[in-house]
Amino acid sequence: MTRIDARPLRLHDFEPQVDDLCAQVVAGLRKPQKELPCKFFYDREGSILFDQICELDEYYPTRTELSIMRDNIDEMCAVIGERCMLVEYGSGSSLKTRILLENLRDVAAYVPIDISRSHLLRASRALAKRFPIEILPVCADYTADFELPTPESDVDSTVVYFPGSTIGNFEPAAAREFLHTARLRAGSDSGMLIGVDLKKDPQRLHAAYNDAKGVTARFNLNLLARINREADGDFDLSQFAHYAFYNPLAGRIEMHLQSLREQIVHVAGESFAFREGETIFTESSYKHTLDEFATLARESGYQVQRVWTDPQKLFSVQFLVST
Ligand SMILES: C[S@@+](CC[C@H](N)C(=O)[O-])C[C@H]1O[C@@H](n2cnc3c(N)ncnc32)[C@H](O)[C@@H]1O
Repeated sequence: MTRIDARPLRLHDFEPQVDDLCAQVVAGLRKPQKELPCKFFYDREGSILFDQICELDEYYPTRTELSIMRDNIDEMCAVIGERCMLVEYGSGSSLKTRILLENLRDVAAYVPIDISRSHLLRASRALAKRFPIEILPVCADYTADFELPTPESDVDSTVVYFPGSTIGNFEPAAAREFLHTARLRAGSDSGMLIGVDLKKDPQRLHAAYNDAKGVTARFNLNLLARINREADGDFDLSQFAHYAFYNPLAGRIEMHLQSLREQIVHVAGESFAFREGETIFTESSYKHTLDEFATLARESGYQVQRVWTDPQKLFSVQFLVST
């Protein structure tokens, strides 16, 4: 455990390893449909690019989720209650969390969890300056095994916060597994405030993941730059292109990197052949109807207690209780 500054802010570091990155990248590139885990997007550069995506005109989710939070914050605080320990998965810049921390009464502790250590520390330090509460940052891969820290303050309830529709990045079985494990880790009487992106006009979805400024393309391609640096790769970034589309049958945006020619790439001492047009599948972003998400929650040990949406029903914020 590292003490990171003079304030009572201690990093709980489960140290996600570079070896894991090499092994998982090689395993993904060996598959017939080559794929890479989306969690590796978030190195320092990737986290900065993600924050830039959130500001794009085409990228409606962040703006819309923030507006739902602001419009309904009193009701959200009422269901969360007092003296709660707020545990956020994939906290990133903790932007939306600020609205909660500004409005919740008597927060016992805030536990931001993220795989990107530098981003986590920056966001935690900024929050510690602004909010006089116990902040317990956890650097971990939230799909791996880790424990929540124990706060010094008395806690009446634990609420998991999972905004950004990050749940949509999991395949359906993995989403159920994730929600189930998060519930057990937080305690079987915990609740969850979760952001869920909704099904909508495919044109709008297409635009959100193919922005005119090319920021999403840079975010996607940055994964290859990271592999070159951390897994001894030799991807030529100019020979791969961002490729994202809505797959209506699967109900998801698929993000790929497409090889622009036949080529051989080396990673961690292994060779991988690409045909022209062949893709690496880098991220899914599932969209749900309210009914579909209620079923997913039920299958994961939760019941949907409240749903808040924007007037156009682009996005939802939902409060789940354990069943
Ligand atoms: C889509 S962003 C959402 C950020 C923020 N919560 C929001 O709503 O804007 C996903 C965040 O989850 C983190 N993340 C992704 N995969 C992760 C994993 N397996 N374990 C821990 N954090 C992860 C990323 O570093 C990033 O900060």
